[in-house]
Amino acid sequence: MFDDVAPRYDLVNDVLSLGQDRRWRKIVVDAVGAEPGQTVLDLAAGTGTSSEPYADAGIRVVACDFSLGMLEVGKRRRPDIDFVAGDATALPFADDTFDAVTISFGLRNVSDPHQALREMLRVTKPGGRVVVCEFSHPTFAPFRTVYTEYLMRALPAVAERISSNPDSYVYLAESIRAWPTQDRLAGWLSEAGWEDVKYRNLSAGIVAVHRGFKPGAAGTAAERAERASEYLRRRASRRPH
Ligand SMILES: C[S@@+](CC[C@H](N)C(=O)[O-])C[C@H]1O[C@@H](n2cnc3c(N)ncnc32)[C@H](O)[C@@H]1O
Repeated sequence: MFDDVAPRYDLVNDVLSLGQDRRWRKIVVDAVGAEPGQTVLDLAAGTGTSSEPYADAGIRVVACDFSLGMLEVGKRRRPDIDFVAGDATALPFADDTFDAVTISFGLRNVSDPHQALREMLRVTKPGGRVVVCEFSHPTFAPFRTVYTEYLMRALPAVAERISSNPDSYVYLAESIRAWPTQDRLAGWLSEAGWEDVKYRNLSAGIVAVHRGFKPGAAGTAAERAERASEYLRRRASRRPH
């Protein structure tokens, strides 16, 4: 399915999300908080749109996906990024390889998301971070009703006109509806072994960004969380306003 949508994937995303996807991606990069010298795994990277900001910031990023169609489009667009073919449920990387592992709009599509979360933990260095960006569920009930209408009716109708595989957007709508709530996904991360799991709702809960840490770095969980907050504060103060 992803091989088929690859040629127009990025255009359709921009249209269907009404341009919101660019803002969501920026927030994910801030949550990953990688610095030059670190290596980030962007899993289910598709055409590499979610990997680009790291490469642009001089951070080594490995873009991994199992759709060769998506990888081909990505490699043509960004020959400077390392694209690797691999399955999220059996990653082709050694233990403790990456400083951070992230997955955007990918985990929902993986056949066994629990196994993927365990694999992501395995390849992350002790003390390293995971950031999961995924469609979620609006928290305000009246808005949730309007949004569900958009998902089930408008989105497939728009995709019919602009996508190379409109049926896949019916799948998109259905898979978003069936995806666990923010709290349930946080529970999945903890069950997989991630610590200090927290999440943030974006666009009223249309998207949620979950973050956690791999146990094992020096210090207590509270100390690690404090170090992570301190790091993000420093980054924020460096950013131009
Ligand atoms: C919606 S795209 C997301 C692409 C990109 N991360 C982004 O934000 O635009 C989902 C991707 O998940 C990939 N995918 C699904 N299951 C996978 C698996 N088991 N292993 C690796 N990639 C997988 C698909 O091939 C597809 O490229």
